[in-house]
Amino acid sequence: MQILRTTKQATELVWQWRRRDASVGLVPTMGALHEGHLSLARTSVGQCDHTVTTIFVNPTQFAPHEDLSRYPRTIDADLEGLRREGVSAVFVPESDDIYPPGFSTSVQPPSVAQSLEGEFRPTHFQGVATVVLKLFHILPTTHAFFGQKDYQQLCVIRAMVRDLNVPIEIVACPTVRETDGLAMSSRNRYLNAEQRIRALRLFAALDAAEHAVHDGQRDAATIERIMQATLLADGPEQGVDSIDYAKLVDAQTLQPIRQLDDRAVALIAAKVGATRLIDNRLIDP
Ligand code: PAJ
Repeated sequence: MQILRTTKQATELVWQWRRRDASVGLVPTMGALHEGHLSLARTSVGQCDHTVTTIFVNPTQFAPHEDLSRYPRTIDADLEGLRREGVSAVFVPESDDIYPPGFSTSVQPPSVAQSLEGEFRPTHFQGVATVVLKLFHILPTTHAFFGQKDYQQLCVIRAMVRDLNVPIEIVACPTVRETDGLAMSSRNRYLNAEQRIRALRLFAALDAAEHAVHDGQRDAATIERIMQATLLADGPEQGVDSIDYAKLVDAQTLQPIRQLDDRAVALIAAKVGATRLIDNRLIDP
C-alpha cells in the first residue's frame, strides 16, 4: 500500500493506472476509521481494479465553534485497517497542499444543501463540496464511494457531479451499525456509557417512524411528532438532550412533504451531551 503525501504524487499514480484502462475507486474520509469507513473501502476494492483512500480532516467544512481541533486522529490504526482491506494507496495530504496561500475559490453547493444540515451548519456543505471536487481532480478516479450515513452529503455530491459534469460514478454504500443499531461514527467515541445508551434514541425514532408508516400512517407531520417524542423519551434523563431536526422529506430533493406518497427519507440530527449525532432511514409508503 503506497502512502501519498503530495497532490502531485497522487495525480501521477492515478493517471498511471488510468492509462492502463484500470478502474479506480476513491474513498474520501477524515480518518478515525471505523467499520463504516472500512466497508466503503471493501466495496471499492471489490468493484475496482485499484482503490485509493484519502485521509484529510478538511478545515473548511468545520465552523469556528465546531470540533476541528479535537476531531479524533488515529492515523496508524487507520493505515493498518486500510492495508488489511487491500487498498492500493492512501493520500494523506498536508493542509497547505490542499489549501495553498491565496486559496479563494469554492463550490457554491447545490440547492439540496440548503435545508436540514444546511440550516444548522450553514457553511458546512460549501466546504464539503469544495474539498470533494478538489479530491476528484487530484485523484481522477472512475468511481467514488460515499456512505448513506451522511445522506444529505450524498445528495449534495450527486447533484454537484450532475450539475458540473464531473466524469465520475458515485456509488452509495449502506450505513454500518453497531449490533444494537447505533450508526457507527467517529464521534461515538465522545459518548460516555450513559450517553451511549441515550444515543440509541435516534435508531428508536427511525424505527418508530417506519412502524407508523407500516401501520398506515401517511401524514408527515404526525410521523415527525412520533420521531420527536421517541427522541425525547421520558425526558432528558433517557432521551437525547436536544433535537436539531427530525424530518420526513422527499428522498431525492429533500423538500418537505405533507403526505408520504413516494419514497421518503427520515433524517435526524440530535445532541447527546456535547456530541451531535445524525442518522437517517429511507421509508417507502
Ligand atoms: P467522514 O465522516 O470521515 O466519512 C467518510 C465516509 O464514510 C463518508 O462517505 C461517510 O458517509 C462514510 N461513513 C461514515 N460513517 C459510516 C457508517 N456508519 N456506515 C457507512 N458509511 C459511513 O464524510 C466525510 O468524512 C467528509 O465530509 C468527506 C466526504 C471526507 C469530505 O471531507
